Amino acid sequence: MEVVIASNTDEMAARAAGIVESFLGSAVSPVLGLATGASVQPLYRELVRRHREGSFSFAATRAFLLDEYVGLHPHHPQLYRNVVRAELTGQVDLRPTRLCSPDVHAADLEEECARYDRRVRRARIGLQILGIGRNGHLAFNEPGSAFDSRTRVVRLTATTRADNACFFDSPDEVPRRAVTQGLDTIMETGHLMVIASGAAKAAAVLSALRGPVTETLPASILQMHPRVTLILDRQAAKAVVDSAGPG
Ligand code: GLP
Repeated sequence: MEVVIASNTDEMAARAAGIVESFLGSAVSPVLGLATGASVQPLYRELVRRHREGSFSFAATRAFLLDEYVGLHPHHPQLYRNVVRAELTGQVDLRPTRLCSPDVHAADLEEECARYDRRVRRARIGLQILGIGRNGHLAFNEPGSAFDSRTRVVRLTATTRADNACFFDSPDEVPRRAVTQGLDTIMETGHLMVIASGAAKAAAVLSALRGPVTETLPASILQMHPRVTLILDRQAAKAVVDSAGPG
């Protein structure tokens, strides 16, 4: 795993944006996986800024969402499709039809998960942007998720609902269920770029990087992927740095 420790948010965003920019420049029809959350917001701001400066285009790109809440109104601002549109895809030259996400309002949600999973597999995501949960979740694969899991409906843990409450008017508004790409689905991506910032992520980052590979810490599966870049700020990297010992 390649580990990048940045000294501040701007540097994290710049390093991550550099990886996205070179990926978009290196493929004829790039397929990009998008995450949501506080950790990726500075990256999306930086990508919008660079795009406006004319440094690159998203016109040939197709984007796939990693996960999505179940139970929100289609126009709810926290529906991840709407979040990603507001923060990134609606501000660059990526046509709305090229942003793919599971239809969480489908009548048969299980069938929709299977359909979305097939779509993601066929598309072959080249670069997947990811965050990591305080409890070691990846996307909405909560602790205990099977390593061979595929896209499905999941129940969110109290920790995740509490962590995401800051995006809603009240904690009760945070949905209890979501659709998430499975761990096995995510592992099929060519390159995984994981972004984590803040002291609250330090323990999960250490376990993901150096702990046992176990389904109780979903992010530990990253150790089995051939191409992972972990972009951390100093706070998120602290436990990893301390565990390396002096020198
Ligand atoms: C959320 C999302 C994940 C995200 C992670 C970290 O619950 N479902 O896709 O990457 O948890 O979020 P944040 O960056 O806000 O800490």
